[in-house]
Amino acid sequence: MGKWISVAKARDQSAVGPDCEVRGWVRTRRDSKGGFSFLEINDGSCFGNLQIVAPGELSNYADEVQKLGAGCSVVVVGELQKSPAKGQATELHASEVRVIGWADPETYPLQKKRHSFEKLREWAHLRPRTNTFGAVTRVRNQISQSIHQFFHENGFFYTNTPIITASDCEGAGEMFRVTALDLERLASSGGPVNYEYDFFDKPAFLTVSGQLEAETYATALGRVYTFGPTFRAENSNTSRHLAEFWMIEPEAAFFDLRDDMKLAEDFLKRIFSDCLNLCDEDMQFFDQRIEKGKIEQLQGVIEKPFAHMTYTEAVDVLTSCGEKFEYPIAWGTDLQAEHEKFLTEKHVNGPLILTDYPSTIKPFYMRVSDDGKTVAAMDVLVPGVGEIIGGSQREERLDVLQARMAEAQLDEAEYWWYLDLRRFGTVPHAGFGLGLERVVQYATGMTNIRDVIPFPRTPGNAEF
Ligand code: 4AD
Ligand code: MG
Repeated sequence: MGKWISVAKARDQSAVGPDCEVRGWVRTRRDSKGGFSFLEINDGSCFGNLQIVAPGELSNYADEVQKLGAGCSVVVVGELQKSPAKGQATELHASEVRVIGWADPETYPLQKKRHSFEKLREWAHLRPRTNTFGAVTRVRNQISQSIHQFFHENGFFYTNTPIITASDCEGAGEMFRVTALDLERLASSGGPVNYEYDFFDKPAFLTVSGQLEAETYATALGRVYTFGPTFRAENSNTSRHLAEFWMIEPEAAFFDLRDDMKLAEDFLKRIFSDCLNLCDEDMQFFDQRIEKGKIEQLQGVIEKPFAHMTYTEAVDVLTSCGEKFEYPIAWGTDLQAEHEKFLTEKHVNGPLILTDYPSTIKPFYMRVSDDGKTVAAMDVLVPGVGEIIGGSQREERLDVLQARMAEAQLDEAEYWWYLDLRRFGTVPHAGFGLGLERVVQYATGMTNIRDVIPFPRTPGNAEF
């Protein structure tokens, strides 16, 4: 038995030596006229493969090695040597090739031929074995690590908020119901639903955001963040919407909108610079094969300050730019994807922080500004993806919050605990939500959000 090392490690010249063992899946096999074979092995630890030189003298050469193909799993033992070939630092000269699992070439879907991303979604259980999905998975992992590190270094405590909730934080009514009632029996009985017989004695839902609960911890521990799954039953079949996605929500006490914007900008810059510094091989792939120029674009984003604009200024730009939009824009309407696209791609050509939206298009918890018409909201928009962060300063004044809740027809009794934060030691505070999949999309250049989460949940699709 040799000493196991990952392919990532074995690809580095510092690892050369006898008695190395690698474990992975065959990508290709090529038989040489000289009576030996080359195997390309990938184990997911990095983008590149390790070349195995399998000599004809191996006892199972004719019976097994020469029958290996894409997808077979193997353990290879041998001497790791410097490679004379271009494009690879090392190669493993096998003294043993053990076949662990065969993959029938007639039925294994991932043959050499390139498959479209649409096709690969049907094989979501196998697509992590492809170059693209391996790279996406490693970059997504890095981004998650960077998020935890960034907040930890900045004094934010990681906390967890409930997944099952009774409150609709965003007030958009896009919630999945959670029930233990027997829906089929209910339907056949024809009677009204009595939630007292349900598990929680009242209607319950999957959360759309952990913000309200995060606020309770921010007004005790100062700085907290959550990182968890969130759910939205919005029936939008777009390249940037999922029914289940991961959201990161920092919340800080004694924070105003300016502080919040600065935090968001520093945070995104840290994420992108870690991608460039720590995922070089994967980022090279995205730069060359997925979105040309991605690396340079991200470098520019890291170096330059983000553009800022108020909603009112944005509406002025959109109404006077002479561009034809499908959805007309006027003060008080929500920005559509096409408007965000114009602002980020044509007007500023980079990330843009939009602030001070009309109160009528934003949720009840945002702080009302002195003009009485706008709220202290901020969204971060980026080219190609649109909104990746939504945040705000929160309404800390009890009476103003109560008035906003009345407008939104929210029952104060349901939010008694949220109002208590304003009754006892209220402070200015602010936070935001970053959609993990949207930031992975932007970092990698992947155009469809279904391709940056392992198992996408979208209308009509909960396979796997
Ligand atoms: O703007 P949103 O709705 O904000 C909130 O939920 C706030 N409570 C956050 C806060 O202040 N703590 O959502 C935040 C982010 C969006 O900017 C977007 O990146 C992402 O969540 N997002 C989605 N991502 C994928 N699919 C969807 N359906 C998404 N909806 C929102
Ligand atoms: Mg939003």
